[in-house]
Amino acid sequence: MSLVRDNIDKMAGYVPGEQPGDISVIKLNTNENPYPPSPRVLEALQKITAEQLRRYPSPDARAFREAAARVHGVSPDMILCTNGGDELLSLVFRACVGDGDDVAFLDPSYSLYPVLAAMQDAGKIILPYRITGTQWEFPPEIFSVKARLLLIVNPNAPSGTLADMPTLARIIQYFPGVVLIDEAYVDFAPASALELVNKYANVILLRSMSKGYGLAGMRFGYGIAQASLLNQLHKVRDSYPCDAVAIAAATAAITDQAYAAGTWEKIKAQRALVSAALRAMGFTLPESFSNFVLAQVPAGVNAQDVYQQLKKGNILVRYFNLPGLTDKLRITIGTAEQNAALLAMLKTVLAVP
Ligand SMILES: Cc1ncc(COP(=O)(O)O)c(C=O)c1O
Repeated sequence: MSLVRDNIDKMAGYVPGEQPGDISVIKLNTNENPYPPSPRVLEALQKITAEQLRRYPSPDARAFREAAARVHGVSPDMILCTNGGDELLSLVFRACVGDGDDVAFLDPSYSLYPVLAAMQDAGKIILPYRITGTQWEFPPEIFSVKARLLLIVNPNAPSGTLADMPTLARIIQYFPGVVLIDEAYVDFAPASALELVNKYANVILLRSMSKGYGLAGMRFGYGIAQASLLNQLHKVRDSYPCDAVAIAAATAAITDQAYAAGTWEKIKAQRALVSAALRAMGFTLPESFSNFVLAQVPAGVNAQDVYQQLKKGNILVRYFNLPGLTDKLRITIGTAEQNAALLAMLKTVLAVP
């Protein structure tokens, strides 16, 4: 007999992107911000006192909730802080999905979703994207699917494509359960679904401090939803999900909007350059609204070989051995220097002039 529940015994765990110890590696594989966080974050960290470490932190990360509420123009009770955006996903699954319930999500999208569904012993309703050339569209079933939870990454990962607000509103209006809009990458996109949170009680937005604010190492994320839904989620969270150090860092980071927005602008400008250069080399890619691109290798080229050769050259990108993705590489947008190194090495690997 297994020591764990049957479904845990049978499931495969999530495999995160590689995190090499060698800092000379050009890391374009896990969509981190290539720029450091705001200098105000380091100042805040230097001010941490022993007393703050001795005591438990604020159970609901009050300082951050208040700062984020000001940034988003909502009330603090519409913000729930978690240990990374991933923990918000765990909370939503724990609160909304029991064994035998159904969870719906698009495919390809975030590969953690099926893992979380398996943990709950939930049924998975997979909604395949309709992919025509570089167009990624929702399948019509998304407008009639019934489940406890529907997960939509917007902008999507790994495609970087964006769904428009009227489409999202249409889905939320009819869907009987909770719709989680995963906005981990929204800082690089033209619009957020924030306005829908004020209108609908069954929607929750996921936000991450890992990408837009350069704080992946700190682990801090949050949800935005109406208080009626968040009050339910508070019941299933840890007593102190965010530590005092992370609360101080994340609060300093979100308060310095001008700095963060400066990094988003640089990344968006580089995204345009990298996309054009990849297309000129024969890659095919949808327009990205995120901090990465999903590039299909030119005909006759093996994506996994390209991934391996880049790795040998000290550049990491993401290769997914998953249906629909085996001919593609997901490449995080780095600094101008990192992107130039990537493009130069790709030219060598593909032997293009
Ligand atoms: C689509 C998506 N959602 C959520 C997350 C969670 O981010 P974090 O836990 O670092 O805040 C990620 C991280 O890669 C992601 O790609």
